[in-house]
Amino acid sequence: MPYDPSNPLQDRITDIGPKYFREFFPPVIEKNFGKWVYHEILEPGVLVHVAESGDEIYTVRVGGARLMSVELLREMAEIADKYCGGYLRFTTRNNIEFLVSDKAKVKPLVDDLKSRKFDGGSYKFPVGGTGSGITNIVHTQGWAHCHTPAIDASGVVKAVMDSLFDEFGSMRMPAPVRVSLACCLNMCGAVHCSDIAILGIHRKPPMIDGEWIDKLCELPLAIAACPTAAIKPAKTASGLKALEVNAERCMFCGNCYTMCAAMPLADEVGSGIAILVGGKLSNRISKPKFSKVVIPFIPNEPPRWPSTVDAVKKIVDVYAKDARKYERLGDWAERIGWERFFEKTEIPFTHHLIDDYRFAYTTWRQSTQFKF
Ligand code: HEM
Ligand code: HEM
Ligand code: SF4
Ligand code: SF4
Repeated sequence: MPYDPSNPLQDRITDIGPKYFREFFPPVIEKNFGKWVYHEILEPGVLVHVAESGDEIYTVRVGGARLMSVELLREMAEIADKYCGGYLRFTTRNNIEFLVSDKAKVKPLVDDLKSRKFDGGSYKFPVGGTGSGITNIVHTQGWAHCHTPAIDASGVVKAVMDSLFDEFGSMRMPAPVRVSLACCLNMCGAVHCSDIAILGIHRKPPMIDGEWIDKLCELPLAIAACPTAAIKPAKTASGLKALEVNAERCMFCGNCYTMCAAMPLADEVGSGIAILVGGKLSNRISKPKFSKVVIPFIPNEPPRWPSTVDAVKKIVDVYAKDARKYERLGDWAERIGWERFFEKTEIPFTHHLIDDYRFAYTTWRQSTQFKF
């Protein structure tokens, strides 16, 4: 039955969950599920997995912009029909993987993917993202869809990926480098645990719309939203219930705006980018790590964010040259010492980088061990 707005509950289907994933398995995957023996990276972007039965499946990984049109999805579906029996998948970093069981089709598929471009000249399906290179940037909504961003997501990611593009299609880093972006410090995604993270921040306290705040907001929620207790109840001159922000205590997190629409704080020159480095998720050799702030502020420079692009590139280049094999960026920085990291990357160390939130003490140096 078509949806009837006058009777919304009629024929309503609910709580059916996602489709069972095995319905979409290529036959080779279904047959050898749980029985894989080894895999190899044949070239950047191309993997082969070999099963106990001797069966092989070839995977061709290509970059995805994440925000994509139905036309582009249809084009992927056509490619999958032509080479892969109609099967494809998306990775946890929003790359696309074409799964080929017929070895003879791998090279034609790779050549075909590399030949497809948008009218502007960008590759539609750049092959890569495997091994110790730089794969896709996990990112967020930015100015495309969210109301709390300090920066854009898609725009910054495109500019940074353009500058790191050669590393997507090669594997010459000491270890994989995960770059991620979040447009505010809600950190939707992976910025707090990435080798290099691009994070949108504000530098001005919220404005208060005294006329609307008590009508739009549950005031205690906004007060409780503040991590530094900078917000307290107040009255406007005309006697309306409102809130007051102690600007000296505010560090511009924007959490109160998330709770209360009458407390906006985004600002054209105030908002911009902070860079964090050294995080990781895996347990390989060292434990997972949080990323740390190393550049407190870079202005928003749409549409190409040149200062941000340069900063990321510089960190990547110094790491690639100096780190040992298998060393993630955080492993390297911790081995050489953060004072050496700042020296080698020529990033100025400022007071902004010294932790001052609650139990910040443990991040200071309780040792005489350091390098001049
Ligand atoms: C109450 C809290 C949240 C709400 C209401 C919310 C809402 C949304 C909405 C509406 C979208 C779709 C945006 C679009 O269509 O463009 C979205 C996407 C997304 N959200 Fe959330 N979100 C919340 C919390 C979070 C948190 C805590 C995280 C991360 C830890 C997160 C990560 C993401 C990501 C990564 C996407 C993009 C997914 C994609 O495009 O594939 N969200 N969220
Ligand atoms: C970085 C700062 C500090 C260092 C490096 C330090 C170092 C030491 C050392 C090496 C001892 C001898 C421990 C032993 O041989 O058993 C000691 C004892 C002691 N420290 Fe500290 N200390 C510091 C800060 C403080 C502070 C802030 C206080 C008090 C508020 C304090 C109070 C004491 C007391 C009372 C003892 C004697 C404990 C005892 O013998 O029962 N120390 N400290
Ligand atoms: S990181 Fe912040 S601004 Fe970006 S999508 Fe998430 S909540 Fe919105
Ligand atoms: S922006 Fe953050 S620190 Fe500032 S008042 Fe709002 S919640 Fe508090």
